[in-house]
Amino acid sequence: MCGVVGYKGKEIKIIDIINSLKLLEYRGYDSAGIAFSYNGNLVIQKNEGKIDKLLSSFNGKYKDISSNMIIAHTRWATHGIPNDINAHPHLDCKKRIAVVHNGIIENYKELKQELINKGHVFVSDTDSEILSHLIEDFFNDNKGNNLFEVILNIVAKLKGAFAFVAIDNELQELVAVRYESPLIIGIFDNNNYIISSDIPSILRFTKKIIPLENGDIFYVNKNNEYKIWNFLVNKEVKRNIEFISWDISIAEKSGYKHFMLKEIMEQPKVIKDTLLERIDLNSYVVNLDDKVKNLIDLVIDKIDNVMYLACGTSYHAGLLGKYYTWELTNFNSDAFYASEYRYITKNINLEKILYIIISQSGETADTLFVSRELKNLGANIIGIPNVIGSSLYREFVSFPTRAGIEIGVAATKTFTAQAIAILLLNLYINSIKDEDNPILKNLIKNLNEFHIIVDKFLEDYMNIQELAIKYKDYENFLYLGRNLMYPIALEGALKLKEISYIHAEAYPSGEMKHGPIALIDSKMPTMYLVPYNELIYKNLSNIQEIKARKGKIIALVDNKSLEIVRDYVDDVIVLPYVDKFLQPILFNIALQLFAYFVADLKGLDVDQPRNLAKSVTVE
Ligand code: AGP
Repeated sequence: MCGVVGYKGKEIKIIDIINSLKLLEYRGYDSAGIAFSYNGNLVIQKNEGKIDKLLSSFNGKYKDISSNMIIAHTRWATHGIPNDINAHPHLDCKKRIAVVHNGIIENYKELKQELINKGHVFVSDTDSEILSHLIEDFFNDNKGNNLFEVILNIVAKLKGAFAFVAIDNELQELVAVRYESPLIIGIFDNNNYIISSDIPSILRFTKKIIPLENGDIFYVNKNNEYKIWNFLVNKEVKRNIEFISWDISIAEKSGYKHFMLKEIMEQPKVIKDTLLERIDLNSYVVNLDDKVKNLIDLVIDKIDNVMYLACGTSYHAGLLGKYYTWELTNFNSDAFYASEYRYITKNINLEKILYIIISQSGETADTLFVSRELKNLGANIIGIPNVIGSSLYREFVSFPTRAGIEIGVAATKTFTAQAIAILLLNLYINSIKDEDNPILKNLIKNLNEFHIIVDKFLEDYMNIQELAIKYKDYENFLYLGRNLMYPIALEGALKLKEISYIHAEAYPSGEMKHGPIALIDSKMPTMYLVPYNELIYKNLSNIQEIKARKGKIIALVDNKSLEIVRDYVDDVIVLPYVDKFLQPILFNIALQLFAYFVADLKGLDVDQPRNLAKSVTVE
């Protein structure tokens, strides 16, 4: 995934656009670039590396440069290694057209060959560069009198996913196109337009936005008049202007060293916000959003299975959901990686299944692909997006989490919000089947107080920091959890892997002796999740099996399992005892902090780990 920014209107400082681009850096940071109209010329500056490197390449000159038409880009490489040449923007041969692009143009090779045969000279290995040459070629062949007409003809030739912004320095026109990848327009002072892949970089200019729909072409002519045309329905369309309620501060660190730590600390508020108006303490009723409630009511007597589909951290939330469904409802349940489920969607009796599709960005290509396929087959689907206006939010009946924007590439608060939302869905299903269930009432009461417990736990994480110092130099880790804690072992291992680059594997505790135990020695510590519940003595047996092989153990315990486990392990992280269904969410927060401190102690880029991007919008 990449970050795309465009601007057209009155003259503004280019540094304002570069600062907006920085708020998209979580989307990818392999290279960065900017192109703008200046004194009649199209000026471009781009290089491998982060936006700070782009700034330094101006040698301070950018402070005095203003322009009326600008595009900028921060890249997560798909085609072509991260280097200066493959950085966006890309130009045509005559350096009249500049383009920035997010997505993948799947048929770029054949289009590129056609253009080479017509004499176009390419300089990069990217798929995106064909856009600037296609525009030039269509102008050469008189396939359009302005940038809009040319691009309307071009999009018919493109296959894949593309959100791109193109500027024509000669005609002084800008066009933005949204197809599969997100693109939002901000409007201010009547006819000034900021275009971006995500809302935070727009908030620096305005709270008035138009989220483009799939197939929209946004065109601004030289007089700064705009129109929106949808090439899927082939007509001009009117899009409502929406007003963003939250402000730019949410996209800033507010004094924390990293966004990730800020977002870990926001989790008490996220729990409260995601629960707001969705549980009624007087009647112990779960109030779902109408469309979600209606869909469940419609299918509840037809289904016998709840299937969770997602990727990465969201998959771990779905796997936790599988255990919630088994424990709280009388339905079967399973969870699949979205990238895998797409190969088994044939010969399934879809009427019997309710699909829960989880994606914080709402733009993950693997997740959207299988969701759209299932939707076309008539499946029952509820989406759990975090980003309002995302594809998952717009295309499906959605039960959104309310975590607010998550800038840190490693998901933290959004996992917690997803787990709470999934728990609410299962409590609602449970209440339909058994409205006087004591588990339901007790859990709703505990949910209502949960944010207070988390808030108190987050007041003192000194011992986690100390353990991070002690264990930060190990090169491998084993994470073990049983039943509801198994998804948390997976999530904890992913967190450590993705920000500290330490290899960490997770297994169901009972599975450890069927092979992974061969890994155990003094150099392979184990993070073992041991809440107080009916499984504790099974876990104690596994702990002793590890100790017998000189394995070091950090045990995550609560103040009820502590005395049972303490003497058998090397170190403990003690959490408050909470409701069995809330233990996974609380234990996960401790693992987020452990991973965060290890990565920070190793001096790594916690918010923008190498090779990653916040949302993977390519397959
Ligand atoms: C989580 O820390 C990772 N950044 C990644 O696994 C992420 O959860 C995955 O790409 C799914 O993203 P989504 O929730 O936006 O679909």
